[in-house]
Amino acid sequence: MSTAAAHHHESGGLTPEQVETFHRDGYLIVPQALTPSTVAACLAETHRLLDSFSLEDHPMTRFSTGQEGAEHVGDDYFLTSGDKIRFFFEEDAFGPDGKLNKPKARAVNKIGHYLHELSAPFRAITRPSPDVSETPQPVRPAAVARALGFRDPRCLQSMVICKQPEIGGAVPPHQDSTFLYTDPPSAVGFWYALEDATLANGCLSFLPGSHRWAPIRQRLVRRQQGGVAVGTEMVANEGTQFPPGGEYAEKGDQSTEEEYVPGEVKAGDLVLIHGNLLHKSEKNTSQKGRIIYTFHVIEQDGTKYDERNWLQPPEQGFTRLYASS
Ligand code: FE2
Repeated sequence: MSTAAAHHHESGGLTPEQVETFHRDGYLIVPQALTPSTVAACLAETHRLLDSFSLEDHPMTRFSTGQEGAEHVGDDYFLTSGDKIRFFFEEDAFGPDGKLNKPKARAVNKIGHYLHELSAPFRAITRPSPDVSETPQPVRPAAVARALGFRDPRCLQSMVICKQPEIGGAVPPHQDSTFLYTDPPSAVGFWYALEDATLANGCLSFLPGSHRWAPIRQRLVRRQQGGVAVGTEMVANEGTQFPPGGEYAEKGDQSTEEEYVPGEVKAGDLVLIHGNLLHKSEKNTSQKGRIIYTFHVIEQDGTKYDERNWLQPPEQGFTRLYASS
């Protein structure tokens, strides 16, 4: 066992060097954060969900993060998915006749958004078993959050993203705090590869350091019509645009295509993504899928979760990462 692995087992958190890298780059790849058996359990669960959901009562929602499309995820099926397990299709899974052109298990772009409570294998990642006889995860989200300085981290918006062979959609450059806005911004993405993610099958790429200069200028909110949410829209962010701390300074748009750095990762690796960091992924045109699991963590203590955000807390509140005492 390497020293790094031994360190993980002691703390389950991050080394000071890893914390420094995260603050410098706005993202951090943590190798082998999940045990192989956890990866296998989560993949088996993903395939069970893909194979067992019913098309009969499905509104055939397409999911797109494309900024310009007005067809943006407008409907109730999406807006009420924050405490459910629901299925969203790839844009390119539909033929000209509007029907699926792939078997349903090969057509789903993502499954969300309450896996961290409703699905045992995924729940076990954020809520580890107290049974000491079980092998602990090498890296534990609560310990990572502690290392990053969270006081009351809450988990929300968990999803499996399938990035299907041949049709897995591209995700344009974006910042996650745009979608899960707190004032001040506090979101950090936890992104676990359940299969290898490579340049060929549409791995993530990052604009290193952009979290220090790219403000949260826009936010995704529920679009209201006569007091009813009928979809989502982007609006100007009139709140705080950076997390607290002196290291942030707006420098205008200097992003260019070639500055993005790809993050190829192995199954079991974790990528941490600062909510202000610009990142994206390309279309998967290969024959290999790219299944990943992701959730976000926000700071509950001393921030305001915006009541117009697309995702609203369930009655019991967002899931605590730290055990309440
Ligand atoms: Fe993202």
